[in-house]
Amino acid sequence: MSLVSAGPGDPELLTLKAVDRLARAEVVLYDDLASGPVLDHANPDAMLIAVGKRAGRPSARQDHVNALLVEHALAGRRVVRLKSGDSGIFGRLEEELAALTGAGIAFEIVPGVTSASAAAAAAGIPLTRRLTARRVQFITGADVTGHLPEDINWAAIADPAVTTVVFMGQRSFPDLAAGLRAHGLPGDTPALFAESVGHPHQRLIRTTVDDLATMMKTASVSQPGLIIYGPLAFYT
Ligand SMILES: C[S@@+](CC[C@H](N)C(=O)[O-])C[C@H]1O[C@@H](n2cnc3c(N)ncnc32)[C@H](O)[C@@H]1O
Repeated sequence: MSLVSAGPGDPELLTLKAVDRLARAEVVLYDDLASGPVLDHANPDAMLIAVGKRAGRPSARQDHVNALLVEHALAGRRVVRLKSGDSGIFGRLEEELAALTGAGIAFEIVPGVTSASAAAAAAGIPLTRRLTARRVQFITGADVTGHLPEDINWAAIADPAVTTVVFMGQRSFPDLAAGLRAHGLPGDTPALFAESVGHPHQRLIRTTVDDLATMMKTASVSQPGLIIYGPLAFYT
């Protein structure tokens, strides 16, 4: 059983190990964000099973995914669980690991390129800088209900000397930005919106926290997007 990270979508960002595991798979269970051209690397005879749960759409429940993983692995099949970006970042990896461990199934985790580093690379920015951005933090803009989490560490995310990457944060960004302002982060802090990174319709918008919040109030959210803010987000 291999839990394989698919990267942000561009098949050239798959690792050699991911390509190998896909090529040898008998069953591939994949998320919406881990579909498209990366699946071209799957063994043509493999059974491909979509188990996606995009925000706002009917979701395959996590315990159903866990049950499928266990069922196929116990049947002796070579199973790949393909997850977007790096599987260890906001991927509910631990729930699947617990199910596998509980069923006595051995597994490996194949790390990959998170959309956070792919977005920074696409925009031509680093995520850290000596003296002025010595920390980088990945946060989620949505809890299980889809809203801004209530227990946010505002002091940490309003720190102006940090690069912050917000996953799943388009809808809640106006509220997040209001909280950031209330906790002292200047509204003109550089911000980058990176949509569909690694896909042909990739979109990058370089702006500020305030202007991005205004934009997000009316934006329709149909594609995956990341927000990066901090001193490096609008770096030329
Ligand atoms: C469930 S999380 C999975 C993150 C993934 N494990 C990673 O490391 O990129 C899904 C969120 O990741 C971000 N994301 C994933 N793929 C993306 C892409 N190609 N472009 C922009 N954002 C992406 C979006 O914020 C999306 O809502």
